[in-house]
Amino acid sequence: MNTADKTVRHFLTLTDLNPAEFRQLIKRAIVLKGMQQRGEIYEPLRNKVLAMIFDKSSTRTRVAFESAMIQFGGRAIFLSPRDTQLGRGEPIEDSARVLSSMTDCLMVRTFEHSKAELLARYSSVPVINGLTDDVHPCQLLADMQTYFEHRGDINGKTVTWVGDGNNMCHSYMHAAKLLEFKLNIACPEGFEPQQKFIDETSDCITITHDVVAACTNSDLIVTDVWASMGHEDEQKKREQAFRAYKVTAELMEQANDDALFMHCLPAHRGEEVSAEVIDGKQSAVWDEAENRLHAQKALLEFLLVK
Ligand code: CP
Ligand code: NVA
Repeated sequence: MNTADKTVRHFLTLTDLNPAEFRQLIKRAIVLKGMQQRGEIYEPLRNKVLAMIFDKSSTRTRVAFESAMIQFGGRAIFLSPRDTQLGRGEPIEDSARVLSSMTDCLMVRTFEHSKAELLARYSSVPVINGLTDDVHPCQLLADMQTYFEHRGDINGKTVTWVGDGNNMCHSYMHAAKLLEFKLNIACPEGFEPQQKFIDETSDCITITHDVVAACTNSDLIVTDVWASMGHEDEQKKREQAFRAYKVTAELMEQANDDALFMHCLPAHRGEEVSAEVIDGKQSAVWDEAENRLHAQKALLEFLLVK
């Protein structure tokens, strides 16, 4: 097929789902996890192919999608810019037409969000966003699954984001809107989330520079690296700006007694989070990381199994 099919369902941001679909995916991921743990063979994607375009590094996203496709009876193809013509300047539009004519689904991790949108516009198969500079929706499927597994529904709870108003923060803002929780965002001046995400979610979020107040009575504290991929050259400057935005045991004490800690990983112990917190009792980061597999399976099934 040479022209994009407007009826094809893509997953570029969480808002491509409605609230019921988001909850359905979380529930399904929990069921698929149980099936996997019991050793049940379930291969709904036999002979299906996922092409994965990675312009940035990845451990979890790559292995989650690749394992998901193998366990579902299909295959995944890893494409890096070093080896493809995309990396030598072949237009995204042309690459989208060609790749989607040979495969059943595309996953892309890249810099500008507009590149993922362009890929989707010209793809005849579903396109999944595996992280852009703007959002990381796949991670939120796993994070929300993890919260539901540990504490039940997140509706009406208070979540606190500590640190950079980055791609992960933007996806938490979308999740707050869809699942109806309150999101406190504690970030340094100059590192607030982008205005368009604030406009979309203003009724569920509070932005503050007071990290202690933001964590008080919270049910979930979340943070991320100070310098995301693409901002490595700002590491030193950011270390200064984010000094007060470290998740420590003292900060966790401000939150509710049963509060959880999450981090999408990779983490820098001693920077955005202390070792005591990430390796401590309230940390759910290992379940959160494992749930990338189960959540991505639920997403692939949702998009590809008719
Ligand atoms: N959390 C996450 O997306 O990890 P990777 O960068 O390893 O894929
Ligand atoms: N905000 C981080 C998330 C990594 C999974 C980044 O974009 O590098």
